[in-house]
Amino acid sequence: MAIGIDKLDFYAPNFFVSMDDLAVARDTDPNKFKIGIGQSKMAVNPVSQDIISMGVNAAQDILSEDDKENIDMVVVATESGIDHSKAAAIEIHDLLQIQPFARCIEMKEACYSATAAIQLGKDFLSNRPGKKVLVIASDIARYGLNSGGEPTQGAGAIAILLSHNPRIMELNDDSLSYTTNVYDFWRPTSERYPVVDGKLSKDAYIESFNTAWNEYAKRTGHEVKDFESFCFHVPFTKMGEKAFKTILNENVEDSIKNRLMEAYQDSVLLNRDVGNVYTGSLYLSLISLLENHEFNAGEKVCLFSYGSGAVCEIFSGSIVSGYEAELNKEKHSDMLDSREQLSVEEYETFFTRFDNQEFDFERELKGDPYSKVYLSNIEDHIRTYKTEQ
Ligand code: CAA
Repeated sequence: MAIGIDKLDFYAPNFFVSMDDLAVARDTDPNKFKIGIGQSKMAVNPVSQDIISMGVNAAQDILSEDDKENIDMVVVATESGIDHSKAAAIEIHDLLQIQPFARCIEMKEACYSATAAIQLGKDFLSNRPGKKVLVIASDIARYGLNSGGEPTQGAGAIAILLSHNPRIMELNDDSLSYTTNVYDFWRPTSERYPVVDGKLSKDAYIESFNTAWNEYAKRTGHEVKDFESFCFHVPFTKMGEKAFKTILNENVEDSIKNRLMEAYQDSVLLNRDVGNVYTGSLYLSLISLLENHEFNAGEKVCLFSYGSGAVCEIFSGSIVSGYEAELNKEKHSDMLDSREQLSVEEYETFFTRFDNQEFDFERELKGDPYSKVYLSNIEDHIRTYKTEQ
């Protein structure tokens, strides 16, 4: 029974900073951020867009009434959790008006957990014909002003609807996970920003990819050439490329290398302009790939999911005939093109207000046609959302 991705959408907040401006402000050569790291812009979220409102904004346009009646599980994957106890999925389930007899949970393992949510959803559906699972990956990547990780920040949410007979991608039964205990990037509960060993984090990513790929290839018999494209977790666009090149070795024909590297560039177009969205980064990359690369039905995509700490997974999906009709390319281009550019000074005020949870509705709610839900108040630790501006 085919189970997989039936619908897929994302939301990025209405503000961004350009890497040129950030580099000048940080007295750095812009080419380090634009070429060395491979980023052009980074999304900046206002206080009124938290992981819940972004998750709802990502999902709201793709869910039909029939979907809402048949979603039996909502899983939110995040490493920007706002509560140690209550799952963000409960608010999202409520705001999206999904039928009440659904399971709602939040999952954590750095940037990896959306993949765990998808595999859980796939297993959950295997004995529930006609039912659906909503996975939301929602995160705000923040390293601090003037920090080493600052050019790799970002914010956004991805919504993935899993179903039987999916219209975009069937998930194959070939996933392989790999876990290794490493302190490369983590965020203790007392800390506002993650603790990062930048060099170790890059090495750990590549080591995880190589070890997992070798084992995956051994167990499944798959070779690089069997895939039309690869899709990576993208903390910054150079990271996936560096890892990918380690397996595009002398055993792979040049024509295949060129095809796969071209597809890689298609897969990071959105990430380059949004930045790191942690749990959603692989799936933002998948949206970018599907919207910018031409596939024939049945062609396979190999996906590499990575969460620091570290857990990774390699799995594959097969493209479904007619998948193009389920994409929203025009909406996504418009959403990113119509964002407001912030100066670095103003981005810094947004950043500080977020830390202090100081709303400035007059400034923040101006002209974001893609935000139908926003956080309007926090009182006695209870969050209130408004569904119209
Ligand atoms: N022109 C072109 N390239 C330049 C340049 C210039 N003028 N100046 C420097 N570069 C290149 C460097 O050579 C380097 O390239 P290589 O990696 O190929 O050597 C690249 O720009 C970056 O330079 P540095 O490594 O010196 O940069 P840095 O130390 O200031 O920080 C970083 C880079 C470690 C990624 C940092 O931004 C960071 O800590 N980010 C957060 C952690 C992260 O994203 N890690 C990724 C793996 S972990 C993961 O994937 C999970 C997750 O989402 C967090």
